[in-house]
Amino acid sequence: MLLFFLSLFLSSSPLLTLSLNQEGLYLQRAKQGLSVPNNFLSSWDNSRDDTPCHWHGITCDSANRVISIDLSQSQLSGPFPLFFCRLQYLTSLSLQDNFINSTLPDQVSTCQSLTELNLSSNWIVGKFPDSLSQLKNLKHLDLSANNFSGGIPPSFGHFASLETLYLMANLLDGTISGALGNISTLKELLLAFNPFSPGPIPSELGNLTNLEYLWLSDCNRVGPIPESLTRLPKLNNLDLSLNRLTGPIPSSITELRSIEQIELYNNSLSGELPVKWHNMTTLLRLDASTNELTGTIPPELCELQLESLNLFENRLEGTLPESISGSINLKELKLFNNKLSGHLPSQLGTNSALQVLDVSYNQFSGEIPEGLCSNGSLEDLVLINNSFSGQIPESLGKCQSLRRVRLKHNLLSGTVPEKFWGLPYVSLFELVDNSFTGQISKLVSGAI
Ligand SMILES: *[C@@H]1O[C@H](CO)[C@@H](O)[C@H](O)[C@H]1NC(C)=O
Ligand SMILES: *[C@@H]1O[C@H](CO)[C@@H](O)[C@H](O)[C@H]1NC(C)=O
Ligand SMILES: *[C@@H]1O[C@H](CO)[C@@H](O)[C@H](O)[C@H]1NC(C)=O
Ligand SMILES: *[C@@H]1O[C@H](CO)[C@@H](O)[C@H](O)[C@H]1NC(C)=O
Ligand SMILES: *[C@@H]1O[C@H](CO)[C@@H](O)[C@H](O)[C@H]1NC(C)=O
Ligand SMILES: *[C@@H]1O[C@H](CO)[C@@H](O)[C@H](O)[C@H]1NC(C)=O
Ligand SMILES: *[C@@H]1O[C@H](CO)[C@@H](O)[C@H](O)[C@H]1NC(C)=O
Ligand SMILES: *[C@@H]1O[C@H](CO)[C@@H](O)[C@H](O)[C@H]1NC(C)=O
Ligand SMILES: *[C@@H]1O[C@H](CO)[C@@H](O)[C@H](O)[C@H]1NC(C)=O
Repeated sequence: MLLFFLSLFLSSSPLLTLSLNQEGLYLQRAKQGLSVPNNFLSSWDNSRDDTPCHWHGITCDSANRVISIDLSQSQLSGPFPLFFCRLQYLTSLSLQDNFINSTLPDQVSTCQSLTELNLSSNWIVGKFPDSLSQLKNLKHLDLSANNFSGGIPPSFGHFASLETLYLMANLLDGTISGALGNISTLKELLLAFNPFSPGPIPSELGNLTNLEYLWLSDCNRVGPIPESLTRLPKLNNLDLSLNRLTGPIPSSITELRSIEQIELYNNSLSGELPVKWHNMTTLLRLDASTNELTGTIPPELCELQLESLNLFENRLEGTLPESISGSINLKELKLFNNKLSGHLPSQLGTNSALQVLDVSYNQFSGEIPEGLCSNGSLEDLVLINNSFSGQIPESLGKCQSLRRVRLKHNLLSGTVPEKFWGLPYVSLFELVDNSFTGQISKLVSGAI
């Protein structure tokens, strides 16, 4: 009896450090439940240590309490190690990129101090436990790239501190609960690449006033883009691509003050592009390609600080507004497969580091703008199937950055600049079906 009390006293007393403390013992129990490659966690076997604070992957606070475990990319396999949840001060648990399998147990909610839980890239299956949202301190939850199935349960509306929720690339096949709109602390909601059951984008997401990132790409979303999303004051990155969204792009999308990226490609959006864009100071990347948009490209849109504008594969008509040449950050402009016409803006490329210009399969006419490669950055010049006429500008012959020059099926004439053939990186010249004169056919065979 005396011996029993003595040993209890010894092992729980922080003053006497004759044996491994309780936290170390819990960690060893956790390790026993896992399959660990040879010697990888050998430091965890050292029974002469009194604390685990120097073990691989462990961080302690000044009172020698374990506050963080980082065993990412360690080839661990086996079920989620619940013994970690016995560590009362554990705030960060990172097990990403391992082979943690089976389901995430309900008792994960006993990890009460966690502010960060990263289980991305593992082999976890089954539904999310409702108890997850009982982790009141949790700010960052990453369960992406696993095999979770089911939906996002209404219980997720109870998360009290959650700022980032990453659930991308799972096998989630249920519904997306509108209760997510209740997590007022949320800044990043990334649900992309899941085969959810077809349904609308929950309009409740418009209640997430702190939201900066919303990724719903390839989530089987149908129906309209909720107006409520356009009232999110901090939204920076909106990705709704690869769904089956219909109806117009809400005109109020122009009021998103913090927006830098809008991805709407590969949907069935119709109607016209919004006109009254708020004069934002941030750079904008906009991709609404592969939809059913009609009408013209609004000059107001082209006046923004655009970095890329992709509107290909729509039914747009009219001209490309001259104002786009003032967009000094424009790198990429892809407008192919529309019904656009008229001349390209004469100053296009003179004010920005333009890299990609693809306006093929339209009805553009007139000359190729002289300054497309003013910045020396143009890599892809694709003007196939239009009615461009006149000569290829001499300046393009000096455009060392060019990689692909595809001008076939136009009305171009004159001689091809001699220097064209000496450009160092060009891997593709397509010049056929124009009215060039001179010795082209002798200079190159086949490739043009
Ligand atoms: C989980 O991993 C462990 C350890 O490698 C293995 O023994 C077990 O069979 C796996 N379980 C499942 C369901 O794959
Ligand atoms: C996860 O899902 C993929 C795709 O369905 C499947 O190939 C893989 O075997 C699954 N892995 C586990 C551990 O369930
Ligand atoms: C989880 O870990 C991965 C890989 O290191 C990282 O890319 C991701 O940002 C982490 N998640 C969170 C929420 O910090
Ligand atoms: C919404 O959040 C509040 C505060 O966290 C909570 O009391 C309430 O139960 C939640 N409602 C839903 C529907 O999740
Ligand atoms: C959240 O959004 C829905 C739909 O947009 C709305 O009906 C509801 O009142 C909002 N709830 C809160 C708490 O703001
Ligand atoms: C987008 O849609 C086009 C046309 O339907 C298709 O060819 C393309 O593969 C789609 N893109 C992706 C990334 O699925
Ligand atoms: C937009 O803002 C820029 C810089 O703040 C300014 O130069 C430009 O005149 C403004 N345009 C409009 C239409 O208000
Ligand atoms: C190319 O554009 C970049 C960014 O717009 C600018 O910093 C750089 O000075 C330009 N270079 C030339 C040669 O015009
Ligand atoms: C491209 O132009 C050629 C020649 O004018 C024409 O035969 C062809 O049908 C056009 N292709 C498309 C997809 O418009």
